[in-house]
Amino acid sequence: MKEVYKSLKECRICGSKNLYKYLDLGKTPLANHLIELKNADKKEDAFPLEVLYCKNCSLSQLSIVVEPEILFSYYPYRSSVSKSFREHCAEMAAKAAEIIEMNENGLAVDIASNDGCLLQEFKKRNFKTIGVEPAKNLAKIAESNGIETINRFWDSEAAKSISAKYGKAKIIAATNVFAHVDDLNEFMEGVKILLDNSGFFIVEVPYFHDLMANNEFDTIYHEHLSYFLVKPLQQLYKKHNFAIAGIEKYPIHGGTIRVYASKSPKASLSTGRSANEFLDFERKEKMYMIETYQKLESNAKKIKKKLVETLIKLNKDNKKIAAYGASAKGNTLLNYCGIGSSIVEFIVDDTPEKQNHLAPGSRIKIVDSGFIEKEKPDYLLLLAWNFAKEIMKKTENFRNNGGKYIIPIPDVRIIQ
Ligand code: TYD
Repeated sequence: MKEVYKSLKECRICGSKNLYKYLDLGKTPLANHLIELKNADKKEDAFPLEVLYCKNCSLSQLSIVVEPEILFSYYPYRSSVSKSFREHCAEMAAKAAEIIEMNENGLAVDIASNDGCLLQEFKKRNFKTIGVEPAKNLAKIAESNGIETINRFWDSEAAKSISAKYGKAKIIAATNVFAHVDDLNEFMEGVKILLDNSGFFIVEVPYFHDLMANNEFDTIYHEHLSYFLVKPLQQLYKKHNFAIAGIEKYPIHGGTIRVYASKSPKASLSTGRSANEFLDFERKEKMYMIETYQKLESNAKKIKKKLVETLIKLNKDNKKIAAYGASAKGNTLLNYCGIGSSIVEFIVDDTPEKQNHLAPGSRIKIVDSGFIEKEKPDYLLLLAWNFAKEIMKKTENFRNNGGKYIIPIPDVRIIQ
């Protein structure tokens, strides 16, 4: 039988064995493995959730790698559920159309294309589009929305077959997937094969500096194998003869960097800032020192204490508490804090695939937004705090009727 997970032996970017553990969030179940109601009695597996720092290239990474087939063959997360993300995708497609020399039908390939959310926007701008998506359920949705999607994991074989059939790509996008990849060298080999010499490889990853600055420890879970700064990213690109042409910062997902890379060492974009500016900033912020990371665990403990005390007090005062956003990060938070259905009665999520399931570990039931009106909670714990604005807008009625929100990150606070 195939191993369910393996331990990390060396840094996945530079190969160093100089890895230091600085955060231990305990053993937790897989954050996106929601439980069907009929399996409510079955036990689920829990895996160590620990983060190591590479003293050589400064990449933070999990101590284990869970078999990707287990994590990604079925995936309940749908990019297009969030309006903010759809708008973000539209902006990215517009930028991409500006920076490349577009001849007709330039090819844009999205790696881990989810339900086709990003490629819809590229299509609107007359790109020819191909998605590569390992989750069968998502590939099917994308296809039904008219986005041609190859249902497989990305690697050099996928790149060769797309290149043979459709030619080279002007744009290869990889948003919120780099952190999921164990073998980044193979990933880059594929990009090298498929990308046109004048094209751009556009990666978006949560920026680890912001995770640290805002105590976003809940975004650490088994799917996220790596936590990126520009320094290790640049090291990876150099190894594969790619150069960073520009970097932009976005607030989405708690702080994201969009990195434009090119095969041409001279490529430089007027958009965003240079890699060197980011390296200076990271150095100034002490991101290359292990001591900086050691405070994350104590900050996580403080948030846990405050959140649990707040919820228990509200519970004692007979306040009804529900949550919004059955996000993976929400599941890390609930499980790390030991919060279950005796405290949070239900979790609202607009993703149909998530509804009528139980959240892993906490076993809180996930329901549709109609439950807010039906059950009239007094408080909503925003587990998708990164979309707080959008969710608060959606739940205006709840708020107008006296409902309050609990925002857990970067610090626990109640908003009226
Ligand atoms: P997200 O924070 O994007 O990611 P992750 O799972 O990686 O932590 O998850 C947000 C969740 O919140 C997702 O399940 C969709 C849900 N959601 C809604 O149900 N309604 C909304 O309006 C928004 C913005 C999100």
